[in-house]
Amino acid sequence: MVRLPTPRLLEPLSDSLAETLLIEARAPTLEEYQDLCAAVGWSETINFAAAPASLAHSLFSIVVLDRGRAVTRPVGMGRIVGDGALFFYIQDIIVRPEYQGLGVGRKIVERLMGWLHVHAPERAFVGLFAAEGKDSFYARFGFMRHPALTGMFQVIPRLQEEYE
Ligand SMILES: CC(C)(COP(=O)(O)OP(=O)(O)OC[C@H]1O[C@@H](n2cnc3c(N)ncnc32)[C@H](O)[C@@H]1OP(=O)(O)O)[C@@H](O)C(=O)NCCC(=O)NCCS
Repeated sequence: MVRLPTPRLLEPLSDSLAETLLIEARAPTLEEYQDLCAAVGWSETINFAAAPASLAHSLFSIVVLDRGRAVTRPVGMGRIVGDGALFFYIQDIIVRPEYQGLGVGRKIVERLMGWLHVHAPERAFVGLFAAEGKDSFYARFGFMRHPALTGMFQVIPRLQEEYE
């Protein structure tokens, strides 16, 4: 049905972590989103006033929780945005620093790719922006730089900044 690369079989999480981690297919709450963004230093880049609508408009989202703590806390997230028909973008892949390197990020992207393989039609475009040095993390899922395409973006300025 779709021509996305098939994800390879992935290593399981460590036994102890696998017992307490909960992977939920839902958007994070605003509080969870703020918490996770803060944990990886993104607080200043996100407009949190617009975030509830942004999260609600996601096509598919994953939140990972750790029930092994006194207070269950979000330890990671990821989501897919786009038009739901031909253009899909992987967004906000976040793993709390204490949980990085344990396979949580891999699980998140694996779940997002699973959703895409079911819902994205043949020849759908799936894009993402990889932070510096993260190419290889995404390459295992079939993402690659393309010689004929360069990702470009800009950030909308605040109105008062634009007219100062
Ligand atoms: C990038 C990020 C999501 C990875 O999550 P993670 O849970 O640490 O990754 P995993 O433990 O699942 O690692 C999966 C694989 O990717 C590799 N990997 C992890 N982080 C990597 C990185 N920064 N660069 C390259 N490879 C990486 C791991 O070595 C592992 O390889 P293996 O399967 O051969 O052992 C996490 O480091 C993070 O949240 N960073 C801050 C936010 C961020 O930059 N998000 C991505 C925006 S593009």
